[in-house]
Amino acid sequence: MSRIRNFVALILLISTFSIFFYTTLHLKATYGHQPGHDGLLKGRDMKTQPPERESRSVLAPSLNVSTFKGLKEMIPQNGAYWNRLLYAALKSLKNDVNGPRRAAPWSRCTEMTRELLHTNVHDFASYPVLFQTFLDGMSCRSPPALIEQPRKCESDTEGSDQAFLLFAIKSTPENFARRQAVRETWGQERVYAGGARVRTVFLLGSSTPDDPDLTLLLKAEAQHSGDLLQWDFYESFLNLTLKMNTFLEWAQKSCPHVSFVFSGDDDVFVNTPLVLSYLQSVDSSKASQLYVGHVITSASPLRDSKSKYYIPVSFFDGQYPGYAGGGGFIFSGALLQPLLSLSPIIPFFPIDDVYVGMCFKALDVFPQAHGGFQTFDVKDTDRENLCIHKRLMLVHQRTPKQIKKLWRGIQSPFLTC
Ligand SMILES: *[C@@H]1O[C@H](CO)[C@@H](O)[C@H](O)[C@H]1NC(C)=O
Repeated sequence: MSRIRNFVALILLISTFSIFFYTTLHLKATYGHQPGHDGLLKGRDMKTQPPERESRSVLAPSLNVSTFKGLKEMIPQNGAYWNRLLYAALKSLKNDVNGPRRAAPWSRCTEMTRELLHTNVHDFASYPVLFQTFLDGMSCRSPPALIEQPRKCESDTEGSDQAFLLFAIKSTPENFARRQAVRETWGQERVYAGGARVRTVFLLGSSTPDDPDLTLLLKAEAQHSGDLLQWDFYESFLNLTLKMNTFLEWAQKSCPHVSFVFSGDDDVFVNTPLVLSYLQSVDSSKASQLYVGHVITSASPLRDSKSKYYIPVSFFDGQYPGYAGGGGFIFSGALLQPLLSLSPIIPFFPIDDVYVGMCFKALDVFPQAHGGFQTFDVKDTDRENLCIHKRLMLVHQRTPKQIKKLWRGIQSPFLTC
């Protein structure tokens, strides 16, 4: 009898405790709806130190709260951490006439302590270590540049002609051979038929202390080729959204008038002449709203914790918008500023191409599917087929040697298809 009584007492105790626990959780969740990401940060006084860099971005004139309707429809307003950050930012956008809050300076952007993350995300401890690191740095923006190319898009000749296509290629410090293959082939900086000027930059983070120090080699490479951009954040799959955002900031400053921007990997093959003739044929009314590639529709987050693309339920809840696969896609240079203006509002997402898709969704720019973009590669039997490649705009994934062979092959005057 006394055993049963003890048992009942224990149950009562547990329920009281859970009720208490969930109430505090709810409080934390409500707390998250205060203006700006800072709503989640207790005890940080932004005024004690002068800001290192003024990064309050001006919202594109076309952007207002109703713009986010499509995005809101795919992403429920609930307790998932990312969802809470999004809705908090949208709320501050509505309430604050001065626009979204500026991000904390780089040196202090990781001040959201682990303790707070544990309170805000109930199962934070169960997240994979790298994913936890991603959350630490989620509000970090504008890392310092290590290697710059401020004059990249200026014309070498007199006059005001601007770059037509800018290749922005995600690379990593050690991928020397891949970069060289791209330089010698599809990423060559030159003027193509119809006066289309092509410019190329490789986007690099920095090596971690465990990696060999390539600083000197990269410096020499940058001096020789003039196409490296490197920033002071660690290379990591989960830092690719930061890389994209940092590139957008750079491009808005250094290449603001470029007609089109290509974003892709350093192990793809691009049929540059075909891409250029396609871009030149795009109707001028559509050219300023272009977002084209291999479009992935109706995708949802993967919940398998072993997957490279794992997204915990308590982090993000909702559907992914249609998005162009990150292996290689193209968008209009006119969208640089609108995209950038979203960076204080749409929280960083660990998968860079999904993040870009979310931004375009917010801007009501629809991804356009084009069969010429094969980010999942062609059939095995077609991998060496030059005629197939001559008709494609992009294939993934190729070695430096294959890239050179394909490039030579599709240019050959003896190729009959
Ligand atoms: C991203 O870069 C920052 C800055 O170097 C680093 O602290 C962080 O660990 C990196 N993120 C991941 C997920 O590796």
